[in-house]
Amino acid sequence: MRVSEIDTPAVLIDVEILERNVRRAAEHCRKHHVALRPHIKTHKMPPLAHVQIEAGAVGISVAKLGEAEVMADAGIQDLLVAYPIVGAAKLRRLASLAERARVTVALDSFEVAEGVDRAARDAGREIGVLVEVDSGTARCGVAPEELPALCRRIAGLRHARWHGVMTYQGYITGDPETRERLMREENGRVNGLLDRLERDGLRPKVVSGASTPNLDLCQLLERVNENRSGTYVFNDRNTVNSGSVRWEDCALRVAVTVVSTAVPGQIIIDGGSKTFTSDRAAGSADASFGRIVEDPTLQLVKMNEEHGFVQAEGAARPKLGDRLHLIPNHVCVVVNMHDQVYLHRGDEVIDCWPVAARGKVR
Ligand SMILES: Cc1ncc(COP(=O)(O)O)c(C=O)c1O
Repeated sequence: MRVSEIDTPAVLIDVEILERNVRRAAEHCRKHHVALRPHIKTHKMPPLAHVQIEAGAVGISVAKLGEAEVMADAGIQDLLVAYPIVGAAKLRRLASLAERARVTVALDSFEVAEGVDRAARDAGREIGVLVEVDSGTARCGVAPEELPALCRRIAGLRHARWHGVMTYQGYITGDPETRERLMREENGRVNGLLDRLERDGLRPKVVSGASTPNLDLCQLLERVNENRSGTYVFNDRNTVNSGSVRWEDCALRVAVTVVSTAVPGQIIIDGGSKTFTSDRAAGSADASFGRIVEDPTLQLVKMNEEHGFVQAEGAARPKLGDRLHLIPNHVCVVVNMHDQVYLHRGDEVIDCWPVAARGKVR
């Protein structure tokens, strides 16, 4: 089957670019002795998690237990749930997950750690704990000065095992000089944290960090020994805008068809917010919803659920039935909208993978 024969809207993955992205990240981490534990919230597909592990990843990171369950069903054995597990229903699922895979949970409170401890007791298995510290995102994570006391309390639990610390450098983007400066500053902060833990007799086995826009500089965080980057497998407009990759590094495109040219000055494509989501480009004044590969001057400026409004005038205006390809603003949320993706080498479709962990928000 040829790529042009796939019905639209469709998510296409260029396998050559994908393989290059996977290989590049694995080699970089290996060279710098950092364990790569990719976040699979980007792709949500067990076969791709296996490709990452075969390339050298030590395991995977997930955000949700539902994602972890799909991956464990597919034989992935080492899982970090990089998200606090709260509530009895989830703790029961955590216990049964721990019976069939090695599981670590990231959290930022003793209450959540106690729940994990009970789940480990019920499973009769160890469950690891990473304590998340706020690296500047002001999302989850304890303040640096609270870290030693929380780690000490968790290290005293009977069934859960304190393994270390989780940081997240998602805010570090920009041109190479800016990223390098911010990473060096972050290195100073992380070293300060770890020194403080060590003065208290706490030696973390794992110091976990991320993300894609600073993956190429992960070695600057000297004592961070694990990296959870996720978006690097596909890349997207945000990672290109972050200054760390080029358009040629974007492995995923969404194929769409022009379905109406009735209104002057615009065309309508068959992908709207149910295909692309409404995520804007991060940190950019550009308000469009993706880059149109065939002609980046065309702008997807507005969406209804199934209609994409593209501003297009004059000779450059695509015709009814034309196919266009878009690099999305934020690839992770786009994958989550689709049942399957098509893998291709050049113009030949070589496989179709279900997005098995899509919609696993619990
Ligand atoms: C806790 C955590 N770790 C890792 C990642 C992966 O970051 P990225 O997709 O930028 O590589 C994310 C992304 O949202 C995250 O929230």
